[in-house]
Amino acid sequence: MRTLKNRKGKLNNKAFPPLTIPEIDIMMAQLENGEDCRSSYSEYQALPNVDINKKISEACFQMKDLLQDIRNNGYMQLEVLQTIQMDIAPVILESAKNPDIHYLFEQLKAGSEYTYSHNIGVGIIATYIGRQLGFSQKNLSALTLAATLHDVGKTKIPESILEKWGKLTAAEYEEMKRHTIYGYELLKDIPGLPPSVALSALQHHERENGKGYPLKLEGNDIHPHAKIVAIADVFHAMSSNRVYHQAMPFHKVIEQMNRDMFDKFNPEILLGFVTQLTSTLVGKEVLLTNQQTGKIIMINPYDPLKVLLNTETGIVDLRMEEGCSIERIIGS
Ligand SMILES: [Fe+2]
Repeated sequence: MRTLKNRKGKLNNKAFPPLTIPEIDIMMAQLENGEDCRSSYSEYQALPNVDINKKISEACFQMKDLLQDIRNNGYMQLEVLQTIQMDIAPVILESAKNPDIHYLFEQLKAGSEYTYSHNIGVGIIATYIGRQLGFSQKNLSALTLAATLHDVGKTKIPESILEKWGKLTAAEYEEMKRHTIYGYELLKDIPGLPPSVALSALQHHERENGKGYPLKLEGNDIHPHAKIVAIADVFHAMSSNRVYHQAMPFHKVIEQMNRDMFDKFNPEILLGFVTQLTSTLVGKEVLLTNQQTGKIIMINPYDPLKVLLNTETGIVDLRMEEGCSIERIIGS
């Protein structure tokens, strides 16, 4: 029988693997013996890094200047690209090593300047997903660049539309959608740039079911980097304070992604990401919709929000509790 420790090393290279029945038995036995199964299975306990937070904040300001430069010039100067590659991408790659995405989620709740911090946030989340999928260094660097520049086409959109408080008119919305094409145009002829960078700018609003834009592409016609950027884009948007909505609570973001989005996004990438997100909740106290409280002790890889909880009345398996779900995380 494989031991849990033998499986542990695989977590760096693949999306969260499903547990086998024998492994669940081992965990249950550990729980009954009062052992903490989290320490033998999960690797999500990195401590916050204050320096990285400062660097992320600086990268956001730097990105603002660079995008302003592109807006003023109408094209991307080579120095702008070099600054992103030399100064910003290393911060994103470093940030994406932090496995505690719940902590990252708190950091990325941008109160203002969403337009600029969004690029860095999507860069970090996409890179995090790429790492979990076991991307090579070269592939990961291309993904980081693709994610950081996914919305570069917005530099061609009038600020009156970008920063409008009210609902966009139909014409304004059509213009806003064109940021995908503008981004592709800005990036496609830059020498030495991986093709996925321009393609991700073009395709990050395409959806698996063909209901995205601008080309209504489906499944395999969408570049894998654009599929990852699409998930990171939506996750960051839901997690952030915007002009017109408050950031959603962490578990609500997970719930919505898990419930509504499997026809829109690549299910394998999405399930891996959602499972990773939920895993960061292990050890947290939650209130259930039946008003019972409990501590999350294990995640079900096939249905990440149907967690196993330790409550006053014993172990509760949400898979068996019809109509009962997590209402909120206590203390967050
Ligand atoms: Fe976009």
